[in-house]
Amino acid sequence: MPVVTNLEQLIEELRIVFDSDQVDIDYVKELMTSYKSNKEDWAKYAMFDRFRYTRNLVDSGNGKYNLMLLCWGDGHGSAIHDHANSHCFMKMLQGKLKEVRYEWPDGEDSEEMVEIGSKILDLNEVCYINDKIGLHRVVNASDNCQGAVSLHLYCPPYEKCLVFNEKTGQRSSAQVTFWSKYGSRT
Ligand code: SIN
Repeated sequence: MPVVTNLEQLIEELRIVFDSDQVDIDYVKELMTSYKSNKEDWAKYAMFDRFRYTRNLVDSGNGKYNLMLLCWGDGHGSAIHDHANSHCFMKMLQGKLKEVRYEWPDGEDSEEMVEIGSKILDLNEVCYINDKIGLHRVVNASDNCQGAVSLHLYCPPYEKCLVFNEKTGQRSSAQVTFWSKYGSRT
C-alpha cells in the first residue's frame, strides 16, 4: 500500500488503481482511508450553497470515474437514490454524515420503503455501496451546525440516477450536476 500524505497523491494513486478494468473494492477503501484529511488540500474545491448540498468535481479519472467533493450545510441531505450500476466510495473530510440504507422497493404496491441500517460516518471514515447492496440517503449529522465535507468516487461516472419516494417507493430519474469543476464555479 503506497503512503498517501496529501490529496494530490491520493488522486494520483486512484488513477493508477483504476487504470485496470477490475475494481478492487477493499484496496480502494484502504487507499482512501490512508489519506488523512487536511483542509489545506481540498479547501479550493469546497463550495457551499445555502439551500442544498453541492457536488464539486475534483478529477474525472481519465474518463473512468468521477472524484468529487460534496459540501453539506446544516440540515442538508440527499434523496434516497441508486448508483446507476456504479461503485460508490465515500470518505469523510470534515464533520459527520448519517448514511441510511434501504431495500429496493419491489415496484408493485405503493409501500413505505424498508430501512436496512444506518451509520454515522466520522472524520476519515470510508464507506462503500453499490446497487446490489441497496439504496441510500445521506444527511449532515455534524455537531454544532458545522458544514460536512465528503469525498465521493463513482466508477464508472454517471449523469443520471434513480431517486425514490420514501413513503411510496415510487421512483423517478434525476440528473446529477456539478456546482463547480476543478475549483471553478460552473
Ligand atoms: C450521496 O448521498 O451519496 C450523494 C449523492 C450525490 O452524489 O449527489
